[in-house]
Amino acid sequence: MSKPFDIGLDRLTGRASYSESFPIGVAGQRGTFFLETFGCQMNDHDSEKVAGLLLSRGYQQVETPEAASLILYNTCSIREKAAQKVFSRLGEYRERQSEGKVIGVLGCVAQQEGEDIFKRAPWVSLVCGSASYSKLPEMLARLEAGNQRATGLDTDTDETFETPVTRRDNPWRAYLTIIEGCDKACSYCVVPFTRGPERSRASDSILREVRQLAELGYSEVQLLGQTVNSYADPTARKMRFSELLLAVADVEGIVVAIEREPKVCDHVHLPVQSGSTRVLRAMQRTYSREEYLEKIAMIREAKRPIAITTDIIVGFPGETESEFEETLSLLDEVQYDSMFSFKYSPRPNTPSLSMSDSISEDEKGQRLAILQDRQREIQAAKNEHFVGDEYEVLVSGKSRRENQWTGYTTSHRMINFASQERELLGTYVQVRVTGATPNGLVGEHLT
Ligand code: 5AD
Repeated sequence: MSKPFDIGLDRLTGRASYSESFPIGVAGQRGTFFLETFGCQMNDHDSEKVAGLLLSRGYQQVETPEAASLILYNTCSIREKAAQKVFSRLGEYRERQSEGKVIGVLGCVAQQEGEDIFKRAPWVSLVCGSASYSKLPEMLARLEAGNQRATGLDTDTDETFETPVTRRDNPWRAYLTIIEGCDKACSYCVVPFTRGPERSRASDSILREVRQLAELGYSEVQLLGQTVNSYADPTARKMRFSELLLAVADVEGIVVAIEREPKVCDHVHLPVQSGSTRVLRAMQRTYSREEYLEKIAMIREAKRPIAITTDIIVGFPGETESEFEETLSLLDEVQYDSMFSFKYSPRPNTPSLSMSDSISEDEKGQRLAILQDRQREIQAAKNEHFVGDEYEVLVSGKSRRENQWTGYTTSHRMINFASQERELLGTYVQVRVTGATPNGLVGEHLT
């Protein structure tokens, strides 16, 4: 696809997708920006869109805060530690404002703390939550016009954030948002406050972008959303998530390299949070242990084996020793392929903040260590079963060690493997598993 202007993307690793009719600004005309991202995949992808938006308006992306006239942090507030990290990073750039740099906070900490950020870090001049990103160019224009501060903190929008240009970091696997925000009310979680209510993106717009990605040569698309299966098409087509998945998989060029494999990856991430029905109720999750296990059984019955991963919180207020043990027994029962686990972290505005019976940090730490040990044993045993198998692997990294590469199977298992080939990045190769560790597989390239 030809570019209307050179906007300096060649020096960047990723690729940008453009809409034909969109006027592209001239690189560096408006200044340079540095963008650092904390947090989840949604944040990573939001940053790709923000970068695209700024590039299209004539800004140029640079790799260090020193080289930038605009420093932006896209932030995470899911747990307190993540939010603290943002303020300590902001502290590092306190002096920069005097050099005439504009410092901006985007994302969940921006939404949650709002204008208080100006009090805590007066050198910040821009605060913008994720529901207001489409207004970023206007906000920057106001700062350029001499305004001291600009804020975008509305969450009552029914819009999703779409931009004609996205500056994607990974040249093979593309993220694509299908639904933003969250309507659930899990009692520990800040997301409904920081990302606003659920807004689904129009199915025709999603499918158009998938087609464009296929044309650009992406071989994998990861559909993103807080709860992707809550997807509700706002157009008259009223596609459901399952219909959208099939429609996406139908687009030529996507995952075609995975010959004779079904086009949808064989991996489901189903966050359980706790194995105790009592705790799940207190968390305001909408299922019991038994109902969750029924879903797992359904997935396990699929003709094609599906990898299952999860998220777990330990030390939710009031979690007793035996309730924690129910989480351990759930791990034994489900045999997850991998797990993300966290100590409960009290968050502002959330219902669980006022719950009594908080668990001490020590106890939370001990429970987390026990949980992770248990899961490590499960993964060690489980991964052994793959030794001798052969998989198609999307190669995503080259190790510093000679002839060593990293990639992922379609079920998102990481595999380190040996190959004599000189260049494999972004290609699909056939790999035989020769060994296993708790965290992944080891293999060799079959030629
Ligand atoms: N404390 C600890 N972990 C949390 N998560 C979300 N909110 C909190 C919190 N307040 C975890 C959940 C979720 C993952 C993204 O982060 O496990 O699935």
